[in-house]
Amino acid sequence: MPVRDVLRMGDPRLRRKSEAVGDVNDSGLGNLVADLLDTMRACDGAGIAAPQIGVPLRVVIFGVESNPRYPDAPAVPLTVLINPVIEPVGEDLDEDWEGCLSVPGMRGLVPRHTRIHYRGHDVEGGLIDRTADGFHARVVQHECDHLDGVLYPDRIENRKMFGFIPELLEAGLLGPVDLPAE
Ligand code: NI
Repeated sequence: MPVRDVLRMGDPRLRRKSEAVGDVNDSGLGNLVADLLDTMRACDGAGIAAPQIGVPLRVVIFGVESNPRYPDAPAVPLTVLINPVIEPVGEDLDEDWEGCLSVPGMRGLVPRHTRIHYRGHDVEGGLIDRTADGFHARVVQHECDHLDGVLYPDRIENRKMFGFIPELLEAGLLGPVDLPAE
């Protein structure tokens, strides 16, 4: 399956609300998921959403095998999530740095719910139902935002904490161990 071009911020297709998948057993979904997976891996990403490759459907994938910044944290399982629904668990918010494959070379400090519950279907039509926190919860919130046309810069509260990676590193704002973009 081919690696697809990732749309970049400014492309209006990233700003649309994506459509729910009507039939989670549709055979075309397998090709879409294979393309998303290949594209995410080619970009060394932690996640990617279908609208980022120009497909306006509510499909995201994510997964991180290990995270050097949180060596004791469990890996984020490789997950295909179709028609996802997220609910915050509790009121806590965390701020952390995010990057996005559609905003290459940049990072921003983004507040997210610390803990969430999420549901959706996998590519075999099975139900996924999980509680997640920390980086796992952050990745899911970031990817699902893409399905509503929201990009992480929209959620930055302190605009000084947004910029290009080398400059943020030089300023001592971004830690030396950077996380994969989503
Ligand atoms: Ni992204």
